[in-house]
Amino acid sequence: AAGVTACGELTKETTGKIVTSAAPLPEPFGVPLPIPQVARPVSQEGGVDRFEVEQRKAAVEILPGLQTTVWGYDGTFPGPTFIAQGGRTALVTVRNSLPVPTSTHLHGGVTPPDSDGYPTDLVLPVGSDPDAPESNWTPDTAHGMHVAPEDWTLHAGEKTYEYPLRQRAATLWYHDHRMDFSAPQVWRGLAGFFLVRDEEEQGLPLPQGERDIPLMICDRAFEEDGSFRYPSLDPSLSGEPGVESDYHSGVLGDVQLVNGAPWPVLDVTTTRYRFRLLNASNARRYQLTLEADGRRVGPIVQIGSDVGLLERPVSHDTITMAPAERFDVVVDFSQFPVDTRVNLVNTLEDGAMRQVMQFRVARRAQDDSSVPDRLLAEPVRVARSQSVRERTFDFRLTNEGGHEMWTVNGRPFSTGDSWANPRLDTVELWRFSSDFHHPVHLHLAHFQVISRNGEAPEPTDAGWKDTVDVRPYEVVEVLARFAGHKGRYMMHCHNLEHEDMAMMANFHVE
Ligand code: C2O
Ligand code: CU
Repeated sequence: AAGVTACGELTKETTGKIVTSAAPLPEPFGVPLPIPQVARPVSQEGGVDRFEVEQRKAAVEILPGLQTTVWGYDGTFPGPTFIAQGGRTALVTVRNSLPVPTSTHLHGGVTPPDSDGYPTDLVLPVGSDPDAPESNWTPDTAHGMHVAPEDWTLHAGEKTYEYPLRQRAATLWYHDHRMDFSAPQVWRGLAGFFLVRDEEEQGLPLPQGERDIPLMICDRAFEEDGSFRYPSLDPSLSGEPGVESDYHSGVLGDVQLVNGAPWPVLDVTTTRYRFRLLNASNARRYQLTLEADGRRVGPIVQIGSDVGLLERPVSHDTITMAPAERFDVVVDFSQFPVDTRVNLVNTLEDGAMRQVMQFRVARRAQDDSSVPDRLLAEPVRVARSQSVRERTFDFRLTNEGGHEMWTVNGRPFSTGDSWANPRLDTVELWRFSSDFHHPVHLHLAHFQVISRNGEAPEPTDAGWKDTVDVRPYEVVEVLARFAGHKGRYMMHCHNLEHEDMAMMANFHVE
């Protein structure tokens, strides 16, 4: 029937299919919210901060009383939070002690092409020989995507990524980007925060220190023994790629994690808090609202979007977040009496997945923070008249000879192909259309949303972004600035199952 495919029914609501856990699940709000550890630089000299991180397995307790083997940066999930200063260069050496190749992408970073975490730019496991790689690490096709043999770049054991952070204060994140396997590898834990700070932001009276908290929101499912359950064709993930075909629309879990803990609770004081919300789920969208005593409370005051502070704060009752989007928000708990429980809920789902986490107002405290009406002294604006060129990209399921693929303009990803060649230091108008929920992400280029279906953008579209939630049968227009570096970059759907199923496209900045 029309609209029904092996990937399930394409409806406004669906973003994937739920994997049900076999493990016993805890009651919500029994586990304290973990705060990811901060990565310490190994040196800081002459404008360069060096970091080292090791990708490795570790057994951690996610569900009470059970052990989960994560694949984590430094063995943690989320990985350590990198904090770097805009204008300085961060060099991050990633050592791969996992049994599979990896590629690390700094999402939202303005990074040189060879440090961008391109899907075929792989760090092989420590001890493996790049000249005699396991043949199944570099297939020439998978999921219908084509990779010429010379398009694989293989690093033995480690790679140093260079991030010259010529960008404003922002909540970036990093995660695995291996060709065909980003979804299962991120599911196992390969994701963390990367915060860029700058003097302008530090001069603002916003909540700081222990009241500036990153919240990585993602769903997972678990086997009876506590291991992650992912409907992968090959559990070893080294050979036959992919996800079971029932899950091609996206994998949803039935356990809600925040910073790696199920339905956690955070004790707060009667003050303002800054929360850096990140939707790190493979496929799940959220409509986030605050509730106390069964009633909606708020507001959630947005101060920043994906790649930096807004010009002015925007108040929301609810925030819709597609995978990879970030919302930097402030919540003022001074409006609540001590002992109030304020729940962060997801109104897109019912049952167990309605709850995300809880804030427990534990005690009174003084607050000297505030949210100024102007957050940026010199905001960078962009206007339609600056666009030198318009391009349209259609994100759609196509069927070629019975083989279904997620494609961009009807073509599956191929490393040698180009979908666009914008010129350095120009602005272009890019139009995205879609048949499903496709969170469209551009590497390198930051953009502003200027319309949805010919109408004005929505309040949650404000600011400079790198990912936009394109909903079924919508047309979204953005103005993108191509700045910083020339070279090969990509855009793709950030539903990670779609990404692994070929919904990626190269663009070359010339
Ligand atoms: Cu967060 Cu190319 O992705
Ligand atoms: Cu998609």
